[in-house]
Amino acid sequence: MFTASQDRTIKRSIVSILILAAIGAGSFYFLRHPSVMDVGYRPQQPVPFDHSVHAGNLGISCVYCHTSVETSPHSTVPPTQTCMNCHVSVKRDSPRLQLVRESYENNTPIQWVRVHRLPDYAFFNHSRHITAGIDCASCHGEVEKQGVIVQKKPLTMGWCLDCHRNPDEYVIRTRPITGVDVDPAVLSRPLRKGPQNCSTCHH
Ligand code: HEC
Ligand code: HEC
Ligand code: HEC
Ligand code: HEC
Ligand code: HEC
Repeated sequence: MFTASQDRTIKRSIVSILILAAIGAGSFYFLRHPSVMDVGYRPQQPVPFDHSVHAGNLGISCVYCHTSVETSPHSTVPPTQTCMNCHVSVKRDSPRLQLVRESYENNTPIQWVRVHRLPDYAFFNHSRHITAGIDCASCHGEVEKQGVIVQKKPLTMGWCLDCHRNPDEYVIRTRPITGVDVDPAVLSRPLRKGPQNCSTCHH
């Protein structure tokens, strides 16, 4: 049997091994930015906005609301004015639209919770993908079937590069629901590979 002091030494070394393992796991976790791996992340939004109703049932195109995807690196969430184009008359008294009306009257934006987010040191460009005829669904899933938006893919470097090396395996070509106007010549050509040099995504 161990003496009391040996026993303490063993316990102490077990504890320090556990601490080291925890630091190791922690730094791995932080190097790989936490928001990146969050497949299934589905935050509660301030307004019960439903993509499956608006894009799915009503067939409103993605670019009607996400206006900048074709022209800018960043996609934006629509301002309240876009909602009020319809909701000044449609369901105008609905309690579910209370916050939307308040936002409109007080001229304060709705505090939507961001779902997809890359760490600051990685650069993503929407318009480059969209104008190449790559459908939103390749990266966000079929949003028009989602009630509440869910992160569908791990936004890791490996995920970006898998598709850049083998686009045919991962890309869904642009569908009409997006409302994106892709040059037909682009859609009839085979996909180009994406860049793999560090500086295109880190600069
Ligand atoms: C009527 C306006 C409207 C339409 C149409 C619409 N969206 Fe949205 N979208 C929003 C709003 C508002 C949000 C922010 C609230 C939320 O996440 O549900 C949003 C959020 C998103 C997000 C999550 C953004 C984040 O925070 O990471 C994605 C991805 C998205 N939309 C993709 C699409 C796609 C793809 C389509 C077309 C199939 C589409 N949207 C159609 C209004 C719209
Ligand atoms: C092109 C018209 C149009 C736009 C733009 C639009 N909506 Fe709607 N929305 C509708 C219609 C139509 C319904 C009712 C659908 C139904 O009941 O089947 C609806 C329903 C809703 C509901 C549910 C209301 C209830 O009482 O059930 C909410 C919440 C909502 N919309 C939020 C928004 C928000 C937020 C935006 C802006 C990001 C927006 N809508 C933009 C047409 C629109
Ligand atoms: C090749 C993959 C890819 C495609 C295709 C793509 N997205 Fe994204 N999207 C992303 C990534 C990655 C992010 C996170 C970007 C960041 O944090 O810088 C994102 C973020 C977003 C956001 C949140 C932006 C914000 O600032 O709140 C919206 C909205 C969005 N995408 C809508 C769309 C729509 C609409 C389409 C199609 C017209 C689309 N995306 C096509 C990968 C993609
Ligand atoms: C196609 C885009 C792309 C290219 C090319 C790319 N990266 Fe990244 N990189 C990312 C994204 C997105 C992240 C953040 C997500 C993550 O941590 O996986 C990232 C994260 C990283 C990280 C953080 C640590 C980690 O978790 O992996 C390092 C270090 C890194 N990249 C180095 C490089 C180097 C070196 C190259 C060139 C050999 C390179 N990257 C090329 C997109 C890219
Ligand atoms: C579903 C496939 C797919 C995914 C996922 C994807 N890409 Fe791409 N990406 C492409 C293709 C294909 C191209 C080349 C488009 C062209 O120019 O024809 C491209 C081009 C780019 C460019 C344009 C570079 C330039 O020439 O300006 C950047 C930057 C980029 N991707 C970054 C990313 C990052 C960062 C991620 C991950 C967060 C990512 N991509 C995920 C398919 C993808």
